[in-house]
Amino acid sequence: YELVTNNAILAEDKHLPIYDELKGMPNVEFIAGGATLNAIRVCQWCLHDRPGSTAYIGCIGKDEFGTTLETCVKKDGVSPYFKITEEVGTGTCAVLVHKKDRSLCANLAAANKYEISHLQQDEITKVYESAKIFYIAGFFLTVSLPTILAIGEHCAKEAKIMCMNLSAPFIPQFFGSQLAEAIKYVDFLFGNETEAETYGKVNNLKDCSLEAVAAHIAALPKANESRKRIVVFTQGMNQTLIVQDGEDPIAVAVP
Ligand SMILES: Nc1ncnc2c1ncn2[C@@H]1O[C@H](COP(=O)(O)OP(=O)(O)O)[C@@H](O)[C@H]1O
Ligand SMILES: [Mg+2]
Repeated sequence: YELVTNNAILAEDKHLPIYDELKGMPNVEFIAGGATLNAIRVCQWCLHDRPGSTAYIGCIGKDEFGTTLETCVKKDGVSPYFKITEEVGTGTCAVLVHKKDRSLCANLAAANKYEISHLQQDEITKVYESAKIFYIAGFFLTVSLPTILAIGEHCAKEAKIMCMNLSAPFIPQFFGSQLAEAIKYVDFLFGNETEAETYGKVNNLKDCSLEAVAAHIAALPKANESRKRIVVFTQGMNQTLIVQDGEDPIAVAVP
């Protein structure tokens, strides 16, 4: 499949047979993902003494992989509320592991098909109205900005906490206007060092250091002015930088 180690790509047509091939292998493992669902599953794992604390909203297809995903999510204690599209199949990511290296090949498919109409259904409205903390990846800025803004409005109105992750350099680079619209609702903004640097560059900041970019984002206008924004930038094995609007940066060692 011409995949290379330690890389992550979007599937092209030539990669598509890989998913069925992997599915047929005797030692294949199915793990619920991607990035956002992983974060929510880890959150539920941290809250192991409080089962049923988390829920996940997204989009899957009407197929076997969708059923598998739903089963895996439930097994990890997260309540799934999926929109089911008939247009395309469930998103999949082939994870090929060789010794300590891996190669990822993602076919987003149904993950791109989420729409705000799903969020507006009574059942789903009840779910998000009962939530206290929201986490939306920057990746989702490429799918449904109206959904993000609706959740943002809800959080601002109810003084709930909204978190977002920059997710990848291409988000600040190519979805900067969507990010700029969403950020006024964001209470916690997460990112890594390369995403932070890209944000600084594309927004023409004079100083693109991690501290300066974090301070800049922390100080951007906020819909809910009663809570100051906190920016958290990881840098691999090095210290994580935490900046709250108006306060000095804090560096936290990675365990
Ligand atoms: N060698 C390491 N030791 C401990 N933590 C690490 C190490 N390398 C990366 N991390 C942590 O893993 C996370 C990786 O996040 P990120 O760079 O955004 O990648 P992704 O979101 O694609 O998984 C960060 O929290 C980072 O601090
Ligand atoms: Mg990340």
